[in-house]
Order: sequence, then structure tokens, then C-alpha cells
Amino acid sequence: MNLIDPALAVQRLPKHIAIVMDGNGRWAEARHRPRSFGHKAGVDAVRAVVEACLKRGIDVLTLFAFSSENWRRPQQEVSTLMDLFMRALDREVDTLHDNGVRLRFVGAREAFPVELQERMVKVETRTLGNRKLVLNVAVNYGGRWDIVSAARALAEQVQAGTLLPGDIDEVRFHRMTQLTEWPDPDLFIRTGGETRVSNFLLWQIAYAELYFTDTL
Ligand code: IPE
Ligand code: IPE
Ligand code: MG
Repeated sequence: MNLIDPALAVQRLPKHIAIVMDGNGRWAEARHRPRSFGHKAGVDAVRAVVEACLKRGIDVLTLFAFSSENWRRPQQEVSTLMDLFMRALDREVDTLHDNGVRLRFVGAREAFPVELQERMVKVETRTLGNRKLVLNVAVNYGGRWDIVSAARALAEQVQAGTLLPGDIDEVRFHRMTQLTEWPDPDLFIRTGGETRVSNFLLWQIAYAELYFTDTL
């Protein structure tokens, strides 16, 4: 017997899920395959998560695809990731668009090859009007970068004489951070067994439930 009122069950669903999709490398190593094989499988995992969110009516999904610290990985792995990213974008966009997904990229994207930056803008523009699910892909993102950028933007307003330091409060600060168009994540998931945040959303997860799973 189902004791949960279906209307209530919908209310209890998270509105915004943030995921650190970790463990690609170890997944591949366990299969005696190169790490790139794991990153490719990671793309399939992204597809599965997006489909699940669409099915359940989740409003916003924010995925950590590449951290500001990931540049420290071997050059070979970084370029494999860029390549994979670009190809996945080209391949998946039609389906995402057809399913009402709005894509956005969050992070210091000026560090990426121009070709990739242009692709991102194109995809964002194309999917701008979609309403079923917002998919934020965090690329060259760091939670500290996010907070520092907000502080810098406010400092610039103070310098320009349009803002008094005493007027800076949480609400005003929040407006300068990323993802302000949507409610903060209410569920934060990290796969791969590590129980840390690794500089993903910091400001935004103040009240998120944290869920860690060993699944790679
Ligand atoms: C996460 O998987 C994906 C990215 C950082 C792009 P990892 O590559 O960190 O995989 P593990 O943690 O080494 O297994
Ligand atoms: C976090 O995973 C970043 C992404 C999943 C994109 P990492 O594997 O880079 O984090 P650490 O090195 O375990 O902290
Ligand atoms: Mg990792």
C-alpha cells in the first residue's frame, strides 16, 4: 500500500540537484582501461542523470564537469577531456533541445579554447527558451572563484561610488554569485567515495543535504 500522498511526494522532491560526478578514472582502472575510457562512460552517466531528472520533473541540475583545479592534471588528460566535452556537446544538443532542456555553462570559461567558448554560447542561445529542465554545467568552476568574483564585482561598485560598503549584505552578495536565477541546491550528491566538496558550490550549499555514494 502506498501511504504517501502523490501530491505530497512531488512536493518532497528536490528542486535543484548538484552533483560532483567523480570516479571516472577509477572506474576505468578497475576495468584495466585508460582513464579516458572512464570519462567517456561519464558522458553516458550524465545522459542517464538528465533523463532521470526529466522523468521526475526536477527543475535544475548542476553538474561539476571540470574544476579550476583539474588543469593540474596531465596535459594529455586535460586535452582528452576538452575533446570529449566538445564532441559530447555536438552530439547531445539536439536531443537535449528536443526534450526541453536549457543548457548553461558556469565558470571562468575564458580559459577554454575559443572554439569551445563559441560552442557554449551557441548552445546557450539555442536552448534559452526551454523550460523543462535547466542543466548547468560547471566548467573551470571553483566555489572560491565564485565568491571572489562576487566580492570583486561589489568592490568595483564601491570604487565607482554606486555602493556603500555598509550596504553589502547577504542578499546583495548572493546576487553577485553564480546560479542566482534558481533556488539553491537542496540536494548535493558526490559519487566516487570521497566525502569532500572539492571546491564545488560553496556559497550555494549552505543548506543542501549532502549525499555521498561509493558508486564510481
Ligand atoms: C571525475 O572523475 C571527472 C573529472 C574530474 C573530469 P575523475 O577523473 O576524478 O576520476 P577518479 O576520481 O580519478 O576516479
Ligand atoms: C571534482 O573531482 C571535480 C569534478 C568531478 C569535475 P576531482 O576528482 O577533481 O576532485 P578531488 O581531486 O578528488 O578533490
Ligand atoms: Mg576524482
